[in-house]
Parts: sequence; C-alpha cells; structure tokens
Amino acid sequence: MRIAVLGSLNMDLVLEVERLPRPGETVLGRNFTRYPGGKGANQAIAAARLGAEVRLFGHVGADSYGEELLSVTQAAGVDVGGVTRHPEVPTGVALILVAEGGQNQIAYAPGANWQLGREDVERWLPQIREADVLLLQLEVPLEPLAILLQSLPPEKPLVILDPAPAQDLSPLPLARVDYLVPNREEVLRLAGGEVTELSGAARLLLAREIRHLVIKADQEGAYLAEPGGMTHFPAYKVRAVDTTAAGDAFNAALAVALAQGKGPYEAIGYANAAAALTVTKRGASSSLPTREEVQEFLRHPYRHSG
Ligand code: RIB
Repeated sequence: MRIAVLGSLNMDLVLEVERLPRPGETVLGRNFTRYPGGKGANQAIAAARLGAEVRLFGHVGADSYGEELLSVTQAAGVDVGGVTRHPEVPTGVALILVAEGGQNQIAYAPGANWQLGREDVERWLPQIREADVLLLQLEVPLEPLAILLQSLPPEKPLVILDPAPAQDLSPLPLARVDYLVPNREEVLRLAGGEVTELSGAARLLLAREIRHLVIKADQEGAYLAEPGGMTHFPAYKVRAVDTTAAGDAFNAALAVALAQGKGPYEAIGYANAAAALTVTKRGASSSLPTREEVQEFLRHPYRHSG
C-alpha cells in the first residue's frame, strides 16, 4: 500500500512544565528537549512504521535542523526524495509546552514549509497520483493544496485532510476530500465558532459536502459523524505523558487501514489504538508506534493503563 504525505517538517523545541501558563503568566520549566516533528513528517513516519510504503513531499532549510529531520525521516523508511532544501530559508520550528498529564500548547514558525507553491504541486503530481492514500495537513499554504486537490483524478488517491492548524477552508475544494479529520477545537472553529457541542458542529460541516467526518476527541476517543448521527469510538485508557503527535498517529493509522481496504469503523478503531500508544511516550516522531506495537496493544490494551 502506497501513501503520499504532503506537509510540514519542523524541529520541535519542547519544554516540560507542571501546568500550561495563562496569557501573560510565566511558569517554571523542567526538561527542555528537541524532537524531530511537523505534522507532515510525523504522519509520514507513523505510516511507514505501520507498514506502508511512504513518500513525503515538503520543504526544509539547508541547515542542521533540516538535515536532522531528513535523516530521521529517512531512517524510518520514508522516501524523502520529494523534500526540497532551501539555502536561504530556515527549517520550520515548533515551540511546544507539555504539561503534566500530557496536554500541550504549540506555536509554529513555518520557515521553509511556506515555500510550497504551484510549481511543486505540478512537479509532484505524477508521483502523488500513484498513491493509494494522500495525507494532507494545513501547516503549508492553502493555495497550492487547492491546486493539488483540483488536479487529482476523482477516484484515486483517497484524500485524508487534517485541518490543523484550523483555518477557513473555503479556498479548498472539499468535495475532493474523502475524510476530514479535525480535533474537537478544530471542528468547533470550522463550524463557525458559535456552536459549542460536537454534534451541532458536525451537522453544519456535513451540510458542506464533506463525505466522512472523523473527530479526534482526546480522552473521549473519536467520533464518526454521518448524516444519520454520530458513532463514538471510546479511547483506550493509557497513562498519558505527552499528547504531541497523537493526532498524527491517528491520521496515519486511519490512512494505512483504509489503504488495506478496511472500512471506516475498523479503521477508526485501529487509529484510536495508534493514538493511545503515542501519548504514552514523549516527543513527536519519537513516540509513534510500529505495526507490531499496535498489534500487541490491541491484544492486551490494559497493560498500558496505570
Ligand atoms: O502534530 C504535532 C506537530 O505539530 C508537532 O510535531 C509540531 O511540529 C506541530 O507542528
């Protein structure tokens, strides 16, 4: 099964804190660490660890962060031939605070990720068209993504869009997106910010041509929203230390399962397990589970609660 990922590569600068600060407040930090991350790279690495043949398309700077990201991503088995190095633009960086219990706050400087343009999409299109599934996120400019979606044949690849960070999706031809996979905050924002409960927000989005809406709801697990109602997939109980990249693991696992021909119900269950395992480890790409780890977890899910 072939998966293409077009998206960001970031170096994550991570500070552990007891609790997240309020606006204007300073809190004392503990460990400070650097992890390879970025939603594009994370989803590519996650899909490769889950057994897919993966190609990543994106941009880094010609600097040490870019080199490290490329070597870690390649070492995970991802084809990084589609990642361009820029001599004059720095690699993207994310500043992440992780509180006790695993909750995080992220601010992101796109750097080279923002170099994505129409000419990239035209160059990469033949390879992207060969994939069974295409994974997209929004840490890159929207206009080239819109061009890409318009240029894809209607039947293949299946497109999964993670609308993070949340923004106005009206420039995108959503009719060519097969699965929209926001988290709780994103789904409320995408619905206009006035609705406060998930089912109301989901109804509004489903009215906008969205075929499959899957909502990642942290400790609650996930929901599949369909015109007839919402199906709940409860989260596995695990001891969370860092929720960073759990959403990326979820999307990648969903992609792998759908590429294997599983239906949405089975695929969401599998994605829930991959996300649960991710929150038990620190960092972004460093926390993503392998196929064997997910299989073992599904056999004995209670060993990880604690
Ligand atoms: O989804 C997690 C990722 O979001 C982090 O790795 C960070 O780079 C941010 O972009």
